[in-house]
Amino acid sequence: MNKLCLLGLLVGLASHSALADTQSELLKNKDAFVGDLLKQMTVDEKIGQLRLISIGPEMPQPQILKEIAAGRIGGTFNSITRAENRPLQDAAIKNSRLKIPMFFAYDVIHGHRTIFPIPLALASSWDMDAIALTGRTSAIEASADGIDMTFAPMVDISRDPRWGRSSEGFGEDTYMVSRIAQVMVKAFQDQGANAPTSLMASVKHFALYGGVEGGRDYNTVDMSPTRMAQVYLPPYRAAIDAGAGGVMVALNSVNGVPATSNTWLMQDLLRKEWGFKGVTVSDHGAITELVRHGVARDGREAAKLAIKAGIDLSMNDSLYGQELPGLLKSGEVSQAELDNAVREVLGAKYDMGLFENPYLRIGIASEDPADTNAEGRLHRDAARSVARKSQVLLKNDNQTLPLKKQGTIALVGPLADAQIDMMGSWAAAGVPAQSVTLNDGIRRAVGERARVIYAKGANLTHDQKIIDYLNFLNFDRPEVIIDPRPAKVMIDEAVAAAKQADVIVAAVGESRGMSHESSSRTTLEIPASQRELISALKATGKPLVLVLMNGRPLSLGWEQQQADAMLETWFTGTEGGNAIADVLFGDYNPSGKLPVSFPRSVGQIPTYYNHLSIGRPFTPGKPGNYTSQYFDEEQGPLFPFGYGLSYTDFSLSELTLSSRSLKKGDTVEASVTVKNTGKREGETVVQLYIQDVTASMSRPVKELKNFQKIMLKPGEQKIVRFTIDEEQLKFYNTQLQFAAEPGEFNVQVGLDSQAVKQQSFELM
Ligand code: BGC
Repeated sequence: MNKLCLLGLLVGLASHSALADTQSELLKNKDAFVGDLLKQMTVDEKIGQLRLISIGPEMPQPQILKEIAAGRIGGTFNSITRAENRPLQDAAIKNSRLKIPMFFAYDVIHGHRTIFPIPLALASSWDMDAIALTGRTSAIEASADGIDMTFAPMVDISRDPRWGRSSEGFGEDTYMVSRIAQVMVKAFQDQGANAPTSLMASVKHFALYGGVEGGRDYNTVDMSPTRMAQVYLPPYRAAIDAGAGGVMVALNSVNGVPATSNTWLMQDLLRKEWGFKGVTVSDHGAITELVRHGVARDGREAAKLAIKAGIDLSMNDSLYGQELPGLLKSGEVSQAELDNAVREVLGAKYDMGLFENPYLRIGIASEDPADTNAEGRLHRDAARSVARKSQVLLKNDNQTLPLKKQGTIALVGPLADAQIDMMGSWAAAGVPAQSVTLNDGIRRAVGERARVIYAKGANLTHDQKIIDYLNFLNFDRPEVIIDPRPAKVMIDEAVAAAKQADVIVAAVGESRGMSHESSSRTTLEIPASQRELISALKATGKPLVLVLMNGRPLSLGWEQQQADAMLETWFTGTEGGNAIADVLFGDYNPSGKLPVSFPRSVGQIPTYYNHLSIGRPFTPGKPGNYTSQYFDEEQGPLFPFGYGLSYTDFSLSELTLSSRSLKKGDTVEASVTVKNTGKREGETVVQLYIQDVTASMSRPVKELKNFQKIMLKPGEQKIVRFTIDEEQLKFYNTQLQFAAEPGEFNVQVGLDSQAVKQQSFELM
């Protein structure tokens, strides 16, 4: 601990409380400390601890300070500098009766000041060290800004790309998302949530938020218990097992019961079965929404349901404050129920190290940074290196890529020079003015060696309804800048640039607001204004590279026919333009793989790869034969899960298993030889899938069980080995028992989920 802070704290404690000595003795034992504090608290002070408010225009600062001093606020979110948080902490420590520290939270989702690629992009790296680096860097930056808790990681499995929050999650696969959940929690909390450079993780949105019907945000979730257990719940559990101190409860209902009033979810599953010992927090205004969900007649009942079900902290909701005193008086809510919630909040503050030092992350004023957005080169370099790894090469005919740093490049598209969009949604305290656009990145990369002609070519969309919506998302500034020139004039300008160029690079896709909370879509197409631009560019006959920016899988069948090369960059963050240029010019050989399937059209949703076996699977080459298909569309995804190209080529040998049978407690080793058959050094991801061929219930046609990312020099080959044990064969059966069943298992290894080598063994 910073000595000055410790001194300040001791002086503070000694001056205000005769309890100082006993308190420091008690501090050694969390339960004893929290229990002792609880005994000293009035009912109002207890209720105050459950209140988490958003710093914003709704409540002016003097009022906040008064409320804190009166013990009526437990924590805040959305204040993001030490200077902003210090007076709030002072109000608690100097002016409140019990001097219980405040805690400060924020949505640190993919970076804090240095913005990393969006989570869906991070998952595309299949690189756990890179992902850990983003979590650690974010925690270092945010904790240095006086923040104690992040509302992350968001580990909602999403199989429906219409859902705008697909961008915030890590894709469709349970194994992958669970691994990332663990990595992120450990990175945020590093040496423990009480370390000065740690953020307490609160995993969200518990539970099943990604399963909203129709991909429409906040909609109902109705799901079988086996699917929940098998597919959607494991990532939350993984985060909790990794030590996440908090859980944010989802806005949706689960089989008819809103998560916020769902006793089964928060008590039976979370606390009793999973043994979660941390704090639960409602999502924004969720307690009030219980009335609109139709499970509470009024605010009083909503508060009662929420606290009884297990919501500890209420986020931006005044109902606990208004209703709990009456509910306690009438006996509808017991003192024990209130105390349970307060105990968790105090426990979380204890775990964050705030009782020992309320200024642990706020520090002292004289040490406040003069410029909070002057992050070091180290963080920028980390952002660039992760952003390189997060891009996925979808198509590359005739070696269009990498580009040469010579000749003339026509750079076009509404996203080619859009700083705000590089950041993606939930860009925390990142400053758009610092983000490197593709225009900047390409120019820096080529210097004087090549000529770059930039023309916007098209607006994001012609559709005023969409523009109005996107601008509404950001009240204080327009989210989408619309060029007032007629579409034809803009296209003509881009075509003129293309005609002078050796190659066209077109940055197209979605604005960041299109893949955001509440931004659900009914189509997955690139907006028409941009498709018109692509058509005109294609007509020039010049090689066309599409640099895609988007926060969800798009349906790109038509674009695939137009383009010579397509690079999925998602939203790459502060260093995005540099990182994309690194890939375009071959300073980095792309190694990303899709963490989610790309459907051909919206009607094909869901297209997730790990679907169950069915009685009439589609049989290729036999149309109209009463098998499961869409007769008006090619079958299967446009780009499968796990897919991604490189500038080099890899070959895979046949798969070898060390044994054709597996006894309980034993292992089988699966091995393949991977060879770099191309001319460049490159990385690829070797993926292990397993299928339980016959079981007591239908099982997925394949499930990812492991992967290894390996680097190979030209001509080099490596044997990649995977160890398979019984644990990986277990699943939740109809009785919800997690067990492996004897019988045949197919093992598949590939560089994507479709082109695999297969062998099988028997579990004895
Ligand atoms: C979102 C949460 C977020 C919270 C606080 C809500 O609208 O659903 O994911 O953490 O706001 O910003």
